[in-house]
Formats: sequence, C-alpha cells, structure tokens
Amino acid sequence: MGAGHATPGDVTYVLTSYYIIHAYLRDVGMHINNLQRSVNDMEELVQIHGEPLGIVDADDAGTIDIQGGRIVFDDVTFHYGGHRLPLYNGLSVDIDAGERVGLVGRSGSGKTTFVKLVQRLYDVSGGKILIDGQDIAKATQQSLRSQIAIVQQEPILFHRTLAENIAYGRPGASMEAIEQAARLANAHDFIMRLPKDYGTLVGERGVKLSGGERQRVALARAFLADAPILILDEATSSLDSESEALIQQAMERLMKGRTSIVIAHRLSTVRSMDRILVFDRGEIVEQGTHEVLAARQGGIYRGLFERQATEFGQAAAAE
Ligand SMILES: Nc1ncnc2c1ncn2[C@@H]1O[C@H](COP(=O)(O)OP(=O)(O)O)[C@@H](O)[C@H]1O
Ligand SMILES: [Mg+2]
Repeated sequence: MGAGHATPGDVTYVLTSYYIIHAYLRDVGMHINNLQRSVNDMEELVQIHGEPLGIVDADDAGTIDIQGGRIVFDDVTFHYGGHRLPLYNGLSVDIDAGERVGLVGRSGSGKTTFVKLVQRLYDVSGGKILIDGQDIAKATQQSLRSQIAIVQQEPILFHRTLAENIAYGRPGASMEAIEQAARLANAHDFIMRLPKDYGTLVGERGVKLSGGERQRVALARAFLADAPILILDEATSSLDSESEALIQQAMERLMKGRTSIVIAHRLSTVRSMDRILVFDRGEIVEQGTHEVLAARQGGIYRGLFERQATEFGQAAAAE
C-alpha cells in the first residue's frame, strides 16, 4: 500500500474513532450541563442559609424600608461572568405595590435571574433596581432579604419537626402562630393526620411528604414570614387535582396585599395574575393579562398556552 491510499480498515478505524470521540464529546457536554445544574442547586442552598454570594454591602449601606413593595427595574443590564453577551440589556419594568405578576417563557429565557436580582443575589452591571424608591444596591443584604419571602420550586425541608420547619420563616414564633400559618396554607389538616402532628420529624430521614404537601409547608413558612414581597417559583411536576386546588387557594391567600412575582407553570396560576411578563432571551417581549395575551394571534404566550392546552387534552384523553 502506497501513501495516500486508505484501506477499508483505515476507513473503519477513522469512522469508529469519529463515533467514539463524538460520544465522548456528548458526554462531556452532558457533564457540564449536570455541573451547571448542581451549581444552581448549591446556590439555592447557600441562599437558604442567607450567605452572601460574593456580594458585599457598601460601606454606607443602610437598611431598606419596604412598605408597599413597588419594584422598578430601571434600564438594567446584567451579565453573567463567562458569558459572551449580557443576559439583560437595558431591561425596564415597573411592578406596582401589591401587584401579582407572573413570569413565563422558555427555559433559559431569564425568569429565575430576574427574581435573583430582586433579592440582590447578584449586582447589576448597569441601571438600577428600586424597591419603594430605594436602590437595592445601597441597602444591606440582610435588611433586603428579611423583607422578601421566597417559596422555592422544590422546597427543602430540614430534618426537624414540622413546627420547626414552618417557623424557619420566623424563628421563635409561637405554636399558635405556626398553626395559624399552616391553616392559611391548607397544611393543617394533613399535618394533623401525621403520627405526631406538628412534632413529626420530616426531611431526608424523616416522614416523607408528597410534593404537594412540601409545597404547602413552604407556603406556611411564607405566611409566617409575613413579608411585603413574595417570590414564588412554582413546581413543574404534576400534582393531583385536589392538591393543585389546595395550593392554588393557599397561594391566592398568600399573595393578597403583597407584591408577588410568580414563576408560573400552571395555567390556573397564570390566569389569576394581574399581569404576565413573557420572557424571551433576556427580554420582556409581551405583557398583559392572560385574556389579552391569549387572544394575540401569533403571540409567544398564545403559543405556549396552546401547547400546554394540547398536553392537558392529551393527558386527559389518555386517562
Ligand atoms: N449562575 C449562572 N451562571 C452563568 N449563567 C447562568 C447562571 N444562571 C443562569 N444562567 C444562564 O442565564 C440564562 C437565563 O437563565 P435563567 O434566568 O435561569 O432562565 P429561566 O429561569 O427562564 O430558565 C441561561 O442562558 C442560563 O444558562
Ligand atoms: Mg428558572
């Protein structure tokens, strides 16, 4: 065999190598994805423990005083380190005191980052975020975060009693206050059915609660925390319809009188919002009520809504 000629064996070798390398690269991609996800999860845990993520208070930082809870993004630019382009480039939006706003949009469109910036888990690189007229970059993180209640997508319960888990929102709360919060969150009834009711140990090694029950415990925490601003990241996993109705009712009670930002996945939730912000690649591309957006021919929201409606239809047909 002279140079320049490939035998069938060479070709096979090259092809095989190509497939093997390709598979490796795909694996590497998958690992990076997983890593990113773990980092996100870790951030959420850190967030729970209230530790700063490399954000420092200004020397002259003061406490922020939130009454109504009007949130203004004024020409905000935000850039994740390592990204080539900023995620938000001059984002402006004004959320009224007591307004209930739903965030919708594809995965990666910038919904979670929006609520992270409200909590000042990162500093913006341009523009300002004002709450009741005060620039959050000039407020102490502790004072800001103590006035914002968060309900996580997959709430984490500690290996403690249910009472302690609910009181996480307000350490030292009385048993009456804890029970009152649980009632408002539609959690009291299921708690009373547990072996030691409010004294039942939950979490990793304790009694296992269903996803819907864990969410109601998280809602009870938020009722007890009684903050003027509420951030809620709705779970994507499906719930049985009874659980969904109980959660919906508790959420509506909780949102009353608070500025609420909900990353919404369920139609029942989206429908009851005062305004829906539709995110796409870091921009708010549509906003309005469900009725208005669902009627917009060719609109992004309408597309998302129709897809979800079809999925619902199929699920119902499959039952
Ligand atoms: N901690 C982070 N570091 C770097 N990039 C991030 C981080 N969190 C999110 N991103 C990126 O920012 C974009 C928006 O993400 P995110 O706000 O989580 O969107 P959504 O909640 O709508 O799915 C995505 O491209 C995502 O990969
Ligand atoms: Mg998200």
